[in-house]
Amino acid sequence: MLHRNVQAQFVDESRGATAADTQPDMPQKSLLRFLTCGSVDDGKSTLIGRLLFDTKLIFEDQLAALERDSRRFGTTGKEVDLALLVDGLEAEREQGITIDVAYRFFATAKRKFIVADTPGHEQYTRNMATGASTADLAVILVDARQGILPQTRRHAFIASLLGIRHVVLAVNKIDLVGYSREKFDAISAEFGRFAANLGFSTLKPIPLSARYGDNVSARTDKLAWYDGPTLIEHLETIEVEEERADLPFRLPVQYVSRPNLDFRGFAGTIASGTVSVGDEVVVAKSGLSAKVARLLTPDGEVEAAREGEAVTVVLDSEIEVSRGNMLVAPQARPHVADQFAANLVWFDAQPLAPGRSYILRTETDQTNATVTKLDYVVDIGSFAKAPADKLEMNEIGLSHVTTQWPIAFDPFGENRTTGSFILIDRVTNRTVAAGMIDSALGRATNVHWQAVDVNKAARSALKSQDPAVLWFTGLSGSGKSTIANLLEKKLHAAGRHTYLLDGDNVRHGLNRDLGFSDADRVENIRRVGEVAKLMVDAGLIVIVSFISPFRADRKLARDMFEGREFIEVFVDTPIDECIRRDPKGLYAKALKGEISNFTGLDSPYEVPVSPEIHVETVGLSPEEAVDRLIEKIDQRQSSVGFADGAGI
Ligand code: ADX
Repeated sequence: MLHRNVQAQFVDESRGATAADTQPDMPQKSLLRFLTCGSVDDGKSTLIGRLLFDTKLIFEDQLAALERDSRRFGTTGKEVDLALLVDGLEAEREQGITIDVAYRFFATAKRKFIVADTPGHEQYTRNMATGASTADLAVILVDARQGILPQTRRHAFIASLLGIRHVVLAVNKIDLVGYSREKFDAISAEFGRFAANLGFSTLKPIPLSARYGDNVSARTDKLAWYDGPTLIEHLETIEVEEERADLPFRLPVQYVSRPNLDFRGFAGTIASGTVSVGDEVVVAKSGLSAKVARLLTPDGEVEAAREGEAVTVVLDSEIEVSRGNMLVAPQARPHVADQFAANLVWFDAQPLAPGRSYILRTETDQTNATVTKLDYVVDIGSFAKAPADKLEMNEIGLSHVTTQWPIAFDPFGENRTTGSFILIDRVTNRTVAAGMIDSALGRATNVHWQAVDVNKAARSALKSQDPAVLWFTGLSGSGKSTIANLLEKKLHAAGRHTYLLDGDNVRHGLNRDLGFSDADRVENIRRVGEVAKLMVDAGLIVIVSFISPFRADRKLARDMFEGREFIEVFVDTPIDECIRRDPKGLYAKALKGEISNFTGLDSPYEVPVSPEIHVETVGLSPEEAVDRLIEKIDQRQSSVGFADGAGI
């Protein structure tokens, strides 16, 4: 999730990094990534300014500028306002709130730190989620005068949802409540009560004053009653599990590097686990496997690499791995599915509406996705789960997501990198949600793609044709079946390998459990789409003749196919003409009320907007209609493979 943003911003904004990086002893120290979050005015920026100040990462020139700015914008009277140091953006100075995630680097003698400064303003949950995606620990600030606010609960909940296991409750501005132990104890107890169910492994309340530095890095007599560590001491010593390297190997493929014909490498950052030359790896989505022949890194060729490292993997055999796929450990494979349950944190002012299509982006993969169902929304006050039909800004809920193409993933609880995604609005291009995958859905969990050697290309080559599906849609009695039948006869006579799937026939077998309700028609089309897909995979030219009255379902069927394989043929006959023809006497029955939900009468038919082929049948004989159709197929220039040399 958002990791690329994180890196980009880190490079841009961690001004302190240059100074700290030049210190020779730095590389040996461990790194702690944490984020700060709190409500507006809780003092986050001041706290970070204080951390940078106390760890000597503020330079003389910055200090001078700060003094100037403090006089202009500051809120601390004559003193230097440390918050101004980190609230670097002009806009936020003027509005007095922090508006974007900023990454700061600092270090002490014991440890290096990257801190994500995330804004407290209600509408900026997005940034909190961004900052949290790579953090090991969250410092949740509260104002000692205010105590726990709804935002505090939200931040704690999001931190827990995003897999953060360590929390510091920084009870700030303790000076403003007279360094009161009672206040501190009451706030800590209240936080402890509601955070008890959030699954944190450590939770450390610390009283402090960021403004005066009390208990940040230095102790003060005024807090003599407090015998715990200062914030810095705690951050320096806390042990966060270094567990990502122990997880199964996952390399989401960022790009395929092919500088010349003799070299093909798969590049990306190892999301988890380790890999060595000689290891067998599997391509998650195809099940193909190969051995690692070479591992290249920016520092040269290596024998092994681990989580967090950028590598280019060269395999010992030529197998297909495209961007967005994943190289994984054969014994511990990720899920590959197009339906899963996921927790969503909604960011956008326009609420989530189940049924809408979004762009889903994982670390390296991207596909269209629909949120099909919202299971529940979490009430931040009580953490109770309530049914809901939409997800508003800043709300968090569990939903069912269906993707157009299967993605490879792990449950977020097992792997934070391969278990997360973002949703992007197709129109505005805004990131509207962060998602954490809970589990694969459908009965087909733990079913992996089995690689097969005889594939679509091999099968269609044997038949000397490009497989395709000609999807006939139109009213009952429009002439679909007659035209489809004649077309198949001609293709067959021309030596093509075809199959005709006809609505009435399929409804006698595979779909005999389905009627004519909207839901049954949707399922009818989904199934026939899947069957057509298998037949296209078998190398056939498939003619589908179903009313398929709903645009969305025809789109769903279309999306099952590659590129130009899907050809929508609209058999356009006005309803009056269908009623006049009434080949099966069904319109007569329907008009008498003996059949309900009849398409075109009391059930809708949604006319195709831009079918590849449009055949108006009025005034044509079926033969003429087929000739017209073949002409149009020919115009598509043999894309289907039966225009040239087919003799039709
Ligand atoms: S679809 O709407 O689900 O695509 P499909 O093509 O499978 O329909 O089946 C339509 C055929 O079922 C019609 O050609 C007609 O013979 C028969 N039929 C029976 N009842 C209905 C109905 N209520 N609406 C439409 N077709 C019906």
